[in-house]
Amino acid sequence: MKAIEIRNKYLNFFKEHGHKVIPSAPLIPENDPSVLFTTAGMQPLVPYLLGEKHPEGTRLTDYQKCLRTNDIDEVGDNRHLTYFEMLGNWSLGDYFKDEAIAMSYEFLTKELGIDPNLLSVTCFAGDSDAPKDTVAANAWKKAGIPEERIYFYGKDNNWWIAGEEGPCGPDTEMFLDTGKPACSEKCGPDCNCGKYVEIWNNVFMEYYKAKDGTISKLKQQNVDTGLGLERMAMLLQGKETPFDTELFLPVMEELEKLAKVENIESRRIVAEHLRSSIMVISDGGKPSNIDRGYVLRKLLRRMTRHLNKLQINLDELGNLIELYVQTLKELYPDLEKNKEMIKQTIIAEKDKFMKTLAHGEKEFEKVAAKAKQENKKVIDGYNIFKLYETYGFPPEITADLAKEQGFEIDLSSFDKLFKEHQEKSRQGSEQKFKGGLAEQNEQTTKYHTATHLLHKALQIVLGEHAKQNGSNITIERLRFDFTHPEKMTPEQVKQVEDIVNEQIQNDLLVTCEEMTLEEAKAAGATGLFENKYGEKVKVYTIGNFSKEICGGPHVTHTGELGHFKIKKEESSSAGVRRIKAILE
Ligand code: SER
Repeated sequence: MKAIEIRNKYLNFFKEHGHKVIPSAPLIPENDPSVLFTTAGMQPLVPYLLGEKHPEGTRLTDYQKCLRTNDIDEVGDNRHLTYFEMLGNWSLGDYFKDEAIAMSYEFLTKELGIDPNLLSVTCFAGDSDAPKDTVAANAWKKAGIPEERIYFYGKDNNWWIAGEEGPCGPDTEMFLDTGKPACSEKCGPDCNCGKYVEIWNNVFMEYYKAKDGTISKLKQQNVDTGLGLERMAMLLQGKETPFDTELFLPVMEELEKLAKVENIESRRIVAEHLRSSIMVISDGGKPSNIDRGYVLRKLLRRMTRHLNKLQINLDELGNLIELYVQTLKELYPDLEKNKEMIKQTIIAEKDKFMKTLAHGEKEFEKVAAKAKQENKKVIDGYNIFKLYETYGFPPEITADLAKEQGFEIDLSSFDKLFKEHQEKSRQGSEQKFKGGLAEQNEQTTKYHTATHLLHKALQIVLGEHAKQNGSNITIERLRFDFTHPEKMTPEQVKQVEDIVNEQIQNDLLVTCEEMTLEEAKAAGATGLFENKYGEKVKVYTIGNFSKEICGGPHVTHTGELGHFKIKKEESSSAGVRRIKAILE
């Protein structure tokens, strides 16, 4: 059964059960700056889950385009995807557990023809927030699932919420037994060995979790269900991976034909990232150095890098995009209409990245020259990481170049820095989801980094005497006091702005090291040297531009900052000037 047939069957089934079919919301959320992309079907429906009346009524069904990038580094294995489609049926204060479960069972067994003996389900085990879900379990028994295939788990497995705050509730999840042998006596649907594959989730959203963690009942009892289309297609077609379904196969085969090097992982990364990028661009996404655009840029850079790794001529990109549009247009007719724009965007970004790569090579030469001068035999992890993050320069290319010039490279410390960075980005994206308060922290973090850039820019334009005298940051602006005897001229203000913006454009990497105060001074760090002798301090380095002692936090790349603008330059006290500036 092809994906399009599964989708049509789903929407028709729920239509016959009194649901109105609503179109997918765009991948880029409308009027919601607190999230980067639509990550679940419920996101565009939140107001209605909270009680607002939906114009189409209380029973809805839809397919929703989703993008989740938390696991982007796992893509390349046999299951992870960033873009996916979720089929859903919704009760907005209409039916609840009994009817939802009866319909799920009927759809799986009758419409999709899944053998009921292969189905297992999980229900919420209960805790102080909500009772054990015997209602759901009984509904499953009534539908035909025997007790030994009904499992109970806690919040880790059977509670659903998007992020930290919002509508939520216990869920019941359906699993298909793939027929693989159990890995141990304890093997069950919560085990990752591959025997059980989750196919559908019914969330019983009758609670709301507030910012402070308290859980209260919503006005109405809702049902939010999500069935992943790619995974269902894979299972029904008896394929091992989604890449073997008709959604990816034509592109996977073409990549295999074009590649001069055998590497299934790279082929999957190219196919996956290209599909996600096409979908994001078709919905209006543009590559850039911040937020959504940065995610898209990352997808495209990784894709290009792996095309390179497969030694595929990059001029093939246009044909690959064409092939994808033909492969997916039955599911997404808009792709045909947006095709030229998608091609142009992707090819322009590829060209830019190729320049970046050339730039990276030049930077490598500098690193190598310095290492030679210092009689070093090893290119250290920090430099490999810097090349990777600042110029998108792949560590394996650094390794090749290093080898050609007789260097060893310290990949293990690169890996360590890389993992630390990943952890930071992960925390960053979680924060992004939380919205509200987290947004504020994100904004103030940006102002912290902008302050360092401003400090350095002032020293360049006015002279070394322009030292920090005070700093104050709110979510709306930064305020910076510095020693300087006279009013800055408009030209100086403009010069300072331009320097800061140039460093933002350069998307410099921000790194942090701990060292003693003496080491920090020796490394040329500026900052307030009030600490005691021998005390450890944090030193934040921004590319080759600035080095300051500071407690942080800071962004990971200056590209995240946006546009810097000085709003005011005035006197603070005798010999001290004050700047107020914003990021827009
Ligand atoms: N919101 C739930 C999920 O994303 C069910 O749709 O899994």
